[in-house]
Amino acid sequence: MKEKKFEFNYTVYQNIDELPPEQKELLEEAREITQHAYAPYSRFQVGAIAKLANGETVKGSNQENASFPVGLCAERVLLATVSSLFPKIPILTIAISYKSEEQKSDHPISPCGICRQALQEYEGRNKQPLQLILGRMEGAVYVIDSASKLLPLAFTSDELR
Ligand code: THU
Repeated sequence: MKEKKFEFNYTVYQNIDELPPEQKELLEEAREITQHAYAPYSRFQVGAIAKLANGETVKGSNQENASFPVGLCAERVLLATVSSLFPKIPILTIAISYKSEEQKSDHPISPCGICRQALQEYEGRNKQPLQLILGRMEGAVYVIDSASKLLPLAFTSDELR
């Protein structure tokens, strides 16, 4: 019998102004993109932006539907868009923010379980770490250097080889 431990480090910034300029700019854009969300049911608007290795940026936002399970999180809208537009170009960084009039949360958004699965697969395709910048319209920001760290013991494409 052997007990194993999983740990990961992430950086907490007090606010957006503490971020390096390029990360700050991305999170500012993610905040703007919350306006593009179609979220009439949850009124929880999520904006995400990817910075690619070729310098391009791509935007995504959550897209809901009256048939609730049809709705898509911003992260997966973003990944599908990047994969369609730039299938061979690695994503370096994704910044995510959210806005909710009724929000009680005082901390950054963190991707849901399905999005963690999608992010770890994209990082595998990337063959390099995919950094996440997690924020909201104000306050603290978390920076995680590799998206896969959010999904220990993940089911990956290796299992299907
Ligand atoms: N949502 C995202 O877009 N990303 C997340 O990481 C968590 C949740 C969306 C899904 C739904 O449209 C709304 O936020 C409320 O769950």
